[in-house]
Amino acid sequence: MRKKIIAGNWKMNTVKEEAESLLKSISAQTATSNLSENKIVVVATPFPFIPFCVDTFSGFSHIYSAAQNCSEHEQGAYTGEVSAKMLASLNVQYVILGHSERRQYYNESDALILQKIKQAQSQQLIPIFCCGESLEIREKQQHFDFIKTQLEQCIFQLSEDEIKNLVIAYEPIWAIGTGKTATPEQAQEIHAFIRNELTKKYNETLAQEISILYGGSVNAKNAQELFACDDIDGGLVGGASLKADEFINIINAMS
Ligand code: 13P
Repeated sequence: MRKKIIAGNWKMNTVKEEAESLLKSISAQTATSNLSENKIVVVATPFPFIPFCVDTFSGFSHIYSAAQNCSEHEQGAYTGEVSAKMLASLNVQYVILGHSERRQYYNESDALILQKIKQAQSQQLIPIFCCGESLEIREKQQHFDFIKTQLEQCIFQLSEDEIKNLVIAYEPIWAIGTGKTATPEQAQEIHAFIRNELTKKYNETLAQEISILYGGSVNAKNAQELFACDDIDGGLVGGASLKADEFINIINAMS
């Protein structure tokens, strides 16, 4: 049975006091959120707050710390970079890779993202691989081809054993931070497409085991109908994960 995952991506927001208070509030409130092995919460704070996040979550079940990026290199003279090995040494479990903001502002290619995924997996971190099209591509009706290419050039280069330990997030760029959510039908259509591509490339059993999250203006109001779709296994939440109450309501919207 594939996991249901509600992941928060704080991006470059909060300072120490805000981060600490938000993490304490989220962890305490998840105690009443019906979490289990198969319904988990992941929070991707900025790097400096990761040790506090790991410490805070250590007293709670089924809630995990994530990073928002890692280096494609194992270690060495790469000023300013953070390695997967460092994250693993802090007991981080997940890492978001290939987010559209990294692709757009830091020119990350599918080939580079693949190297990062391999680094992360070599340290037993679970990558949350992001894909998704721009508005321009959707308007030209090229979104299926675009996403297929993102999959083929990146995660479809992994072996069956490797891709098993990975989460996919579909994040249409036009829905990120815009308040314009994909409709449940639009999101479900792409999620089913991705799962079908997984079946064609690997096999049905594997495709059924991989969690596919939706990201893009998820909030407490729209979460329930998105999560009710067959192939939507949770959300990758930006802005709404910065408010403890709203994030908890999103977690509770997942059955
Ligand atoms: P918003 O929820 O703020 O639209 O951000 C989505 C996102 O980019 C999560 O990674």
